[in-house]
Amino acid sequence: MNNEQLQALKEKYVAAGAASPNQQFADYARNAEVWDADGRRMIDFAGGIGVLNLGHRHPKVVEAVKAQLDKVMHTCQTVMPYAGYVQLAEKLSNIVPVRGHGKVMLANSGAEALENAVKIARAATGKSNVICFDGGYHGRTLYTMAMNGKVAPYATDFGPMPGTVFRAPYPVPYHGVSEDEALRGLKMALKTDANPKDTAAVIIEPVLGEGGFYPAPTSFLKKIREICDEHGMLMIVDEVQSGFGRTGKLFAIQHSGVEPDMMTMAKSMADGMPISAVVGTDKVMDSSGPNSLGGTYTGSPTACAAALAAIQALEEEDILGKGQALGEKLNKRFSQWQEQFAHVDNVRNLGPMAAFEMVKSTESHEPDAEMAGALVKKVKEKGLILLSCGMYGNTIRFLMPITIEDEVLEEGLGIIEESLKELHG
Ligand SMILES: Cc1ncc(COP(=O)(O)O)c(C=O)c1O
Repeated sequence: MNNEQLQALKEKYVAAGAASPNQQFADYARNAEVWDADGRRMIDFAGGIGVLNLGHRHPKVVEAVKAQLDKVMHTCQTVMPYAGYVQLAEKLSNIVPVRGHGKVMLANSGAEALENAVKIARAATGKSNVICFDGGYHGRTLYTMAMNGKVAPYATDFGPMPGTVFRAPYPVPYHGVSEDEALRGLKMALKTDANPKDTAAVIIEPVLGEGGFYPAPTSFLKKIREICDEHGMLMIVDEVQSGFGRTGKLFAIQHSGVEPDMMTMAKSMADGMPISAVVGTDKVMDSSGPNSLGGTYTGSPTACAAALAAIQALEEEDILGKGQALGEKLNKRFSQWQEQFAHVDNVRNLGPMAAFEMVKSTESHEPDAEMAGALVKKVKEKGLILLSCGMYGNTIRFLMPITIEDEVLEEGLGIIEESLKELHG
């Protein structure tokens, strides 16, 4: 079936809220390239929104999944466990920098990991509230939707949110929120609404993902750690987007040296197989009763096999080193664009988690979401998949595979440069 025929099916049978606006259908993919159902090649700078740090169909991951398919596809691990689940738990316990000895529960998606982290925090503390941040994004289930620090499009149509989620500002000096103000906001939230004696956890992305690719300063993360300890709250770090090499370290929190009580992860953990994890200090993770966590598919054998192979590939192929080099390269190129183009501003990166903003002018820094949208549309016409994000919709973010070949990277960056030239007239 070609794109047009598949589009007709989509319009007739897929729920409007779930239907992709993209009219190209992926047919085949390899590393940083995808071919659509009409055979058109696209360069992929989105990586399925940060899932493909190792590229489409990394050979070692594909091999591990195929081998697992010939053994066991499903038992439901609560009915009968299997090696992959416990081996992956051991691996994650060894590499995830939570306080003390880490224990693990596996789930299917980022949102499901966050839901479980909140459940575990409630069980461990006997308290109910959570504090999240402006611009944060944690998922589309009912509770994670409430945790998101942005209404549209996630929560617009879905009525009242659970009342135990409170919000503090995220420090983004470029958009007028200093670190001091953010800290003051958090302290005020604890005074005005979220009584510390009822508050189980503070949940933060060390780099805002959907919210615009802004890293939290180390000093801010350290302060959160201190405040959590002072009030008997847990610090939960959401690394669903920033994890598994996306910032040049295995996890973004490692740039700060802060050890959280729990971490959530998904996306690039298994190179595209659906799996997520909550990793936390053993005492915290063991605080809920037997059979209180899990689900039919959580930590499926094939997804565990993929995750183990993906983590091994990350270690064996110097993905962290390659990511740092990629981040530097991107920053250099974006800085040139910032000098060259009047609407490119605020170039930044933490490793290859890199971004810039489209603005009306670099004097006012006024966000220009329309221009960002026009850039994304133009590059798509020229064969490049690129994403925008941010509270103001004007951040251009980069989530290409870290394994991208130099020539493909250059070709993609060339498409952006040419499009910026055209947009600047
Ligand atoms: C930081 C963060 N947390 C949670 C999620 C939700 O993950 P999922 O879409 O797998 O439910 C996302 C997804 O983009 C994310 O970026």
